[in-house]
Amino acid sequence: MNIHPDMTVGEVVAHHYRTAEVFKRHGIDFCCGGKRTLGKACTDKNIGWDTLATELDQVLQAPDMPSQNTDNWEPDFLAEFIVQTHHRYLRENLPLLREFTVKIAKVHGERHPELKVVEKQVELLAGDMLEHMAKEEQILFPYIKSLCAAQRLHQQSPVTPFGSVQNPIRMMEQEHDYAGSLLENVRDLTADFTPPADACTTYRVAFAKLRELDDDLRRHVHLENNVLFPKAVLLEKLLLNQN
Ligand SMILES: [Fe+2]
Ligand SMILES: [Fe+2]
Repeated sequence: MNIHPDMTVGEVVAHHYRTAEVFKRHGIDFCCGGKRTLGKACTDKNIGWDTLATELDQVLQAPDMPSQNTDNWEPDFLAEFIVQTHHRYLRENLPLLREFTVKIAKVHGERHPELKVVEKQVELLAGDMLEHMAKEEQILFPYIKSLCAAQRLHQQSPVTPFGSVQNPIRMMEQEHDYAGSLLENVRDLTADFTPPADACTTYRVAFAKLRELDDDLRRHVHLENNVLFPKAVLLEKLLLNQN
């Protein structure tokens, strides 16, 4: 892959997920902000093009396991992978994280008032993500799976109550942006999930879990926005053109 300034951040990460480290290091959003071009990201973050291109080339030239290249996966398999890994992770960890953030806000909220805002952001995030994942699992992903089945069986594109797949995708992307903004607030309030020197164990564990969730959600949203959704749009167009 030859890097050039007109490529989008999402395209590069979709091609090779390890480039995400480079974008993260420079504070460039690769999941919700994945549609931005590399050139624009450099201008916005005041980074020289040569610096970014060199760092990306280094990562791209390192050997990778081809089987882990999600860009080559079938959309139905990818949708199922997302449910079994990222949705499962959130369902298991959001309640735990809620407990931790409620507890530290209660115990340390007076000395660290930002913890009460963190607690609220996590509460909003948990509620929203549970509803969001249910919509993906009940509406969007089954439709994507039926598009794949139609292609394999040489059948027509399935009929939907929502018109084009682009409609639910647009809604999911807006919800991703909202979840991303909640986590960005938490990152800002906690100095990038850094516990203060006087933090107790629960405080430290809560921040470590928040950082873990932030990393997981970035990969999750990246897989949907930059890999799964474009594949679904393309497949739907292909099937409609065949009929
Ligand atoms: Fe999802
Ligand atoms: Fe999603």
